[in-house]
Order: sequence, then C-alpha cells, then structure tokens
Amino acid sequence: MLKPLDYLFNCINCGFKFESKKVEYYCPKCNDLLEIIYDMEELKNYVSKEKFERRSLSVWRYKELLPIKDSSKIVSLGEGGTTLHECKNLCKLFNAKNLLVKNEGENPTGSFKDRGMTVAISKVLENEVKIVACASTGNTSASLAAYAAKANIKSIILVPEGKVALGKMVQAIIHGAKIIQVNGNFDDALDSVKRLVKHYPQICLLNSINPFRIEGQKTLAMEICSQLNYNPPDVIILPVGNAGNISAVWKGFKEFKELGLIPKVPRMIGIQAEKAAPLTKAFKEGKNEISVVTYPETIATAIKIGAPASWKKALKAVRESRGLLETVSDNEIIEAQKLLARKEGIFVEPASAASIAGLKKLLENDQIDKHENIVCITTGHGLKDPDVILKTYNEPLVKISPKIEELKKVLEGML
Ligand code: F0G
Repeated sequence: MLKPLDYLFNCINCGFKFESKKVEYYCPKCNDLLEIIYDMEELKNYVSKEKFERRSLSVWRYKELLPIKDSSKIVSLGEGGTTLHECKNLCKLFNAKNLLVKNEGENPTGSFKDRGMTVAISKVLENEVKIVACASTGNTSASLAAYAAKANIKSIILVPEGKVALGKMVQAIIHGAKIIQVNGNFDDALDSVKRLVKHYPQICLLNSINPFRIEGQKTLAMEICSQLNYNPPDVIILPVGNAGNISAVWKGFKEFKELGLIPKVPRMIGIQAEKAAPLTKAFKEGKNEISVVTYPETIATAIKIGAPASWKKALKAVRESRGLLETVSDNEIIEAQKLLARKEGIFVEPASAASIAGLKKLLENDQIDKHENIVCITTGHGLKDPDVILKTYNEPLVKISPKIEELKKVLEGML
C-alpha cells in the first residue's frame, strides 16, 4: 500500500464531492469535469522536501500525492525526471536574464503524456479493466499504446485521418494499438471515442478528461520546484491544445503551495496556434465560455484543436495565477523550433516550440519582464514530426564526389 490516505472526486463546476473506486469522468449532478482532491492537512503529515529529495526525480517520487492505492499495480516505463536546461544562448538572443527549458521530450515515448499515462493505466489495472481508448493528435495515442502494451491490455486509438505526425503514428503501430482513422479533426475523434465508451462502459477512456491523467501530469510542476530548490519561477510558459496540461501543471504548483513546500506560485502562460486558439480568444475578450473553432489550422498538429475539453479548468488556471494566454503564428513556431535546436541543442516538435515563440513575443511586447525567472515547457520530441523539418528546410543539400578539392570548394569561407 502506498499511503493510508483517500481521495475524492470533486466537480469543478458545482463542487459536488464523492467517493468512487471506479474511473469517473463527469459529475453525476451537473455533468461537468471532475478533479481529484485530497485532505491536504492530513497529507502534510506524510510528505516533506527531505522525503521527496531522498527519491530519484520521477513521477512516482510524489506517490503520496497520487491516487493509486496498490503499488503492485503501478505500470512504469521510467517517466518523469526530465532535464531543466539552462538556456544561456537564448537568453542572450532574447535579452532575458534567466530562461530554463523543461524538456518533456525526454520521457519514454517522447512526450509529457507519459506522466499521466503511468498513473491512469495503473488505475485501470487496479480496476481490472482490459481495454483502454483515446482520441489523439498523436502523442496521447503513442503513450497509451506503449503503456497498454506494458500492462498487457488492449488499446484503441482514434486519430484524425491523415493528420497525425509520422513518428507518432509509427509508435502506435509498433506498440500494437488498434488504430482507427476518423474522417474529421481531433474534436470529431474525441466526440466519437466519448460515444464509444458510453456504449461500452468496459472500455476506459484515457483522454485528459480522465482525472487520473491530470494527477500524473501535475508532477511536472513538482519536479520543476525540486529542480529549483523549491523556489518556483515567476512564469511558466507552455503550449495549449486540449488544455489538460496547463490545468495539471497549475494543480501541481497549487498543491505544493498548500502543503507549505513552496513560498509562491508562478503565473501560468498558455500559448495557442493563431488559427486554433479558442481559449486565447475567450481570455482576451474576458469571456467565461469559449467559442469552438470549427476548422482549426496549424502546422503544430499536436495542438490543432478547436474545442478543448478542459477549457474551463484552463481558464481558471490562467486567471487564478494572474497569467495569460497568447497566440503565435506557424512561422513564429518554425522559427522558434529552429532557434532552440540551433542555439541550445534541444530538438522539439512544433507544438512544443510554441512556448519559445510565445516567450519571444511576450518579451517583445513587455508582457514578461526580462528580469523574471522563466520556465518554458517543451512538450514533445522533435523526431515525432520529421516531415515538418523537411518541408520547411529551404537550404539546398550539398552533393559532391569524394575528393578533397570538392570538399574545399564547398567549405570555402567556413574554414
Ligand atoms: N504539446 C504536445 C506535444 C502535445 O501532444 C499536446 C497535446 C500539447 C502540447 C497540448 O497539451 O492538450 O494538454 O493542452 N496533445 C494531445 C494528443 C491532444 O492527443 O496527443 P494539452
């Protein structure tokens, strides 16, 4: 057993709290999304910085703050423990003082999704569920397929037809998921999978409306605290698509603050692609509801989402933390991807580069002060989407016959 403490489901809308052994997605009273809550006062007796620091940096380092009772059911591929990179070259370029990049591409399947998947799949095993499913722009499905394989259960993934980046698709194939291409975009795939699990309750839905996913992903914030000696940064910048991760990271910081482990919380800054930005629009217009973008468009396919499922949680995270939401163009994303790769040696997929593009824009617009401590989260590995690089690389590839004269000629000016 991990801990003697229990958790409750809490409705983010009406505040209805209830206990359930099963995986619940919606409030039985008002049908809004759920979150998992703990008795924080009680938890203070079970956690401390010293206790965490004795364990290796990873999702399960924070096991007292995770809702898994039976440690024998934990399905792990070694998730978390990603590097917080100091980015001195980018600092110089952006005229910023302190920029760190938490590179989630270092996770086992190459994205932050593994943090949520290890917890959610462990919960699935606790409940003796045998089939899991999700809709995905690619990373959730890659992660789901890998963890389901490890857990020896079946996985079904619904993806937008022809729109998933090559690397992600290949991952789902090799891990043996049942892949179903939906004629439509991610939002259509999510609607379909929701209908599927309603018809077949024996299938567990593993999108981020599953609150156990959020629990795993919140450890991203906890690791950042630890890596900064429990002095959180002033701002966190991360890409936003279906809006689960920004909600999760905010929950992580809030819980650490409530437990008295950190003195303050950062401002949460979410970045969306210009033509897939329903949350940013609602935020800038001061609205409490989003208007769905019916045909979202962006080169960053991971965040090509028009109806983010966790929009309410995300708006709350941004407003509570006094943060903001901003958009970036596809050109800015590609430029930032290249900068991060060429100045810092970190190769991320386009959606991840949105955080760097957003930082650049916000520094230029004085919405972030250059003296602030900044952490950008890069969410997925660059090799996930090789096609984007080849499509946007416009320098000709040199070809020569293997002679020193020819080499000298092409390297003229460089040596
Ligand atoms: N970055 C990457 C690389 C992603 O894959 C995603 C989401 C996000 C950012 C946005 O995170 O949805 O929590 O706001 N990918 C999902 C998927 C939608 O299906 O893989 P979010």
